[in-house]
Amino acid sequence: MQGFSQSDDRPLPPGFVWGVAGSAYQVEGAVTEDGRGESIWDRFAALPGAVANGDTGVVACDSYHRFGDDVRLMRDLGIGAYRFSISWPRVVPDGRGRVNPAGLDFYDRMVDELLASGIEPFVTLYHWDLPQALEDRGGWPSRDTVEAFSEYTEVVAARLGDRVRHWITQNEPWVISWLGYGLGVHAPGRASEVDALAAAHHVLLAHGRAAEVLRRETSGARVGVTIDLVPMYPLTYSDADVDAARRADGSRNRWFLEPVLGRGYPRDMLEEYASILPRIEDGDLQTIAAPLDFLGVNYYTRNVVRAGADAAAPATVETRGAEHTDMGWEVYPDGLTDLLARLHREYELPDLYITENGAAFIDDRRNGSVSDPQRISYLERHLAALGEAIAQGVPVRGYFLWSLLDNFEWALGFTKRFGIVYVDFDTLERVPKASYAWYRDFIAATRTVRV
Ligand code: FCB
Repeated sequence: MQGFSQSDDRPLPPGFVWGVAGSAYQVEGAVTEDGRGESIWDRFAALPGAVANGDTGVVACDSYHRFGDDVRLMRDLGIGAYRFSISWPRVVPDGRGRVNPAGLDFYDRMVDELLASGIEPFVTLYHWDLPQALEDRGGWPSRDTVEAFSEYTEVVAARLGDRVRHWITQNEPWVISWLGYGLGVHAPGRASEVDALAAAHHVLLAHGRAAEVLRRETSGARVGVTIDLVPMYPLTYSDADVDAARRADGSRNRWFLEPVLGRGYPRDMLEEYASILPRIEDGDLQTIAAPLDFLGVNYYTRNVVRAGADAAAPATVETRGAEHTDMGWEVYPDGLTDLLARLHREYELPDLYITENGAAFIDDRRNGSVSDPQRISYLERHLAALGEAIAQGVPVRGYFLWSLLDNFEWALGFTKRFGIVYVDFDTLERVPKASYAWYRDFIAATRTVRV
């Protein structure tokens, strides 16, 4: 394999970290235990038809109780870091006010257990499980949620900040705002463009405010935010298709990337959204542009777009003949190199981490084992693409594979398996797949040949 093979002498940046990622609602279960409050995903998943097969996170992977097993799997894998999220309603059950000590204790133990196994915690503060009480008061489209988020951040930082160094304020602002509030396919299930843009602004503002809180409350915090970036390729070089790609890139990528990197909202998109913009107060953009120690990039696929029939919205084209994962996402490793090279070329970047990359395929357990050659091939090619970007000088400092365990894949429930460890959702047994052994050997190999 090109990029990171044993025979390759291109060095990894010093301190490069290999990890895996997961999130609270997708793995923990125990949704009513030890004082946890209700989240928007509990409410949403209980709605008939909202989630495939009526699946919910009530049990999920039961990691709340089986965390020790999960850490053992991570330790045997040889990873240097685990990216996980804190469940806001476990810590502040009503979103504001009363703190639940048992919730904090859980994450406290988790951090200690990780550190004792030589695994660095990368803590995500928000991975989509908003306390339902806050949604009842307006959710992310309401500016009050920003205040609530900084209070919650303060509580978590005060408890974990002596041991946790790496913090990710928000995970995937586009998904939070557009899938949750604009299209209604994720919790809380609202479908309003006005709400989506207001949510997006407040999620970004909450990121900036949390960054300030983390720096104030802890010493030596490394603060970042994770953005899901989907490179947009025009179907043809016609002016109309190229312009469609610009717009798609604007709404999906630049709307989030540019304010966070200090450029404010992109001008072309401000024009496009003029009639549905939220109130942007003086100083907001400055807050959003809080200094970053790192930018987290989630990369899964690309989109190919063409001009929409009525010139209204760009249309995503199905890439027939290409390889797709079980999500229907095109497997396009070059997109990762292109994306990283573009970020490097066009922006002043802090350190980068790939905070998610991975693939869902249909995995069968045969005679006790799970062979998943397609996932291994996906990973091999994406890591080669990453190696290529690093060789070009892009400052990538780490890579987190999504995910350790098969888990609750949001509106698709348990139908999509992203894990390198198979989870039997009836017995909760964990069975490492062939890709687990592959990643373990890969990490060991990079370690032996690197300084
Ligand atoms: C990302 C999410 C993560 C997981 C993967 C497949 O959008 O951050 O929770 O669902 O996709």
